[in-house]
Amino acid sequence: MRKNLFSLMLALTLVAAALLPLGQPGAQAQTKLKMGLLPILDVLPFYVADQAGYFADEGLEIELVPVSSALERDQLLLAGEIDGMLNDLISTGIFNQDEARIQIVAMARRAYEDAPQFRILAAPRSNITIPNDLKNVEIGISENSVIHYIAQRILEENGVSAGELSWIAEPNIPVRFQLLMEGTMKAVCLPDPLAQAAIEGGAILIADDSSLVESEFSQSVLSFRTEIVEDNPEAVEAFLRAWMRAAEDVNADPEAYRDLWIENTNVPDSVRDSYELPPFPTYAITQPLAWDDTMAWLVEQGIIDEAPSYESSVNPAFLDAIAPAEAAAGDPANGETLFVNLGCIGCHSLDGAQATGPTMQGIAEEVAEEYEDVDVAAFLHESIVEPGAVVAEGFPDGVMPAYTDLSESDLNDLVAYLLTLE
Ligand code: HEC
Repeated sequence: MRKNLFSLMLALTLVAAALLPLGQPGAQAQTKLKMGLLPILDVLPFYVADQAGYFADEGLEIELVPVSSALERDQLLLAGEIDGMLNDLISTGIFNQDEARIQIVAMARRAYEDAPQFRILAAPRSNITIPNDLKNVEIGISENSVIHYIAQRILEENGVSAGELSWIAEPNIPVRFQLLMEGTMKAVCLPDPLAQAAIEGGAILIADDSSLVESEFSQSVLSFRTEIVEDNPEAVEAFLRAWMRAAEDVNADPEAYRDLWIENTNVPDSVRDSYELPPFPTYAITQPLAWDDTMAWLVEQGIIDEAPSYESSVNPAFLDAIAPAEAAAGDPANGETLFVNLGCIGCHSLDGAQATGPTMQGIAEEVAEEYEDVDVAAFLHESIVEPGAVVAEGFPDGVMPAYTDLSESDLNDLVAYLLTLE
């Protein structure tokens, strides 16, 4: 393979950047942040948050800086001209190879079972139809990029070993698409929605990264310059609150954001209306398994000499600070024991039969349906300590004893158990 242009240029930029002062010293508590954004689907929540005024709600001024390539983005970041960006684990590993220049603060997007991010495709009318047919066929990729890494992992997951694979570099994604469609390239790896456009145009789907859903190898991330994270943590936290709000909006009603998506990212005409917008992960962050695998690949490829540690590059503190309090994680097995020992079972059946009290079969669903917008766990909690607060229809008040002496942890266990009853 020819020497990789991207890592070479980045290496030169890193050297050049080392000679430049990064940002202003003793940065003033700024509320303005510049984010470098590729025109890809992953950045949609940025535009949603911007349009809905969520950044302004947080007292932030977020400048969305469109970039046309990963290289441009990385150079802007190194020059201190952007503060944060949407990038991936490969990019983060290269940035952080000899010092922690950037920190991942959240996951931005990942592959889901029904919503892959990357697909391996064969040319229309090709006789390549299954992963095994790709042995010794040159597969078009952006060399040493996330696409290269993911394509290799997808095929390994599908039973083709790295030694049986060969690659051909074509870093320009639209060109790669074109070469595939005209049959000049026999196979390529492309991101959605372009991959879907290729399929609609006759390309053959060989495999996709839905096989990597569990490992989370396929993901993009939100990261900031370490300097920003250290000097201006409040702004990073506020930014993440706004971003999560926007991601939740997209998840709740993807169709409402189709136009914004088409406007701000590269969407092939043929799939504008048909492509199903994927879900966005919320309050998630890169886990060590995915980090370590990606870094091992970078070292194996000779792109970096030494893998930066997970701790140096992934910073979950911001998400921990803003994540909604988790429904206190109780132990349902202990809850089941308590349900019997405390005598609940004497008044509440588990099989749908109504007794002295209402059946606990499907209680979570029942409550959710009966009382709109209720926090089911909180409601169940209250039902046990203060049964008179809301009296189940058709049952008398004052029959169920108030269990006020239970410890918080026993209560959580009981609730956790009730939540499992279907
Ligand atoms: C002496 C009978 C009795 C015992 C013992 C009893 N309950 Fe109840 N429970 C009732 C009655 C009657 C109601 C319905 C009236 C009400 O909502 O207060 C009820 C209501 C509930 C509800 C609300 C159901 C709904 O649909 O709103 C929950 C949850 C519940 N009980 C859980 C428990 C648990 C857990 C225990 C044991 C720790 C327990 N109960 C012990 C009689 C009992």
